[in-house]
Amino acid sequence: MDGIKAIYGNNIKRIMISEEEIRQKICETGISLSEKYKGRPLLLVSILKGAFIFLADICRSLTIPCEIGFMRVSSYYDGTSSSGKVNILLDLDIDISRYHVVVVEDIIDTGRTLCEVVDILKKRGPLSLEVLTLLDKPERRTADLQADISLFTIPDVFVVGYGLDCGEKYRNLPFIAEYSE
Ligand code: IMP
Ligand code: MG
Repeated sequence: MDGIKAIYGNNIKRIMISEEEIRQKICETGISLSEKYKGRPLLLVSILKGAFIFLADICRSLTIPCEIGFMRVSSYYDGTSSSGKVNILLDLDIDISRYHVVVVEDIIDTGRTLCEVVDILKKRGPLSLEVLTLLDKPERRTADLQADISLFTIPDVFVVGYGLDCGEKYRNLPFIAEYSE
């Protein structure tokens, strides 16, 4: 831990999920998604920026063809959490009605942002749609949204690394760490 603090600073409290644990879960998820979507047109939709590393690893864990799409949304914050009203900053350039869509998300916190995104995508008539999230913080949920696949359930603490940021920093940590002010 001393080495990690020397590189990343004292705000990194502890490693919550190691690289090896992430790798193992992604491998298992890749196997089950590959079985489920074999022979079907699959589109992975990633919500930028937080999910970019997860998407990169999950798509390489698949043993079937897939396509990739990106969306970037901004949610309006009311105090410390998102309000659920989203603004689409970057949209997909693909007609999703020909695809089975898997939305790839970094973390579901209140669930408001993703709830809105899922509503928008469902209106476009995909063949099917499911939500895959790396992390789930169920204690914080206010929206009526559940991930179809969640790799890790975590308590109500702020985490960074493996794509997740605090003020745009720490996305490049190879593990998930608990952050403290
Ligand atoms: P929600 O609408 O409250 O579910 O907001 C989810 C978004 O908030 C995620 O996609 C993250 O970008 C961000 N977020 C929520 N919790 C954390 C955290 O612990 N660390 C970093 N970002 C977080
Ligand atoms: Mg996100």
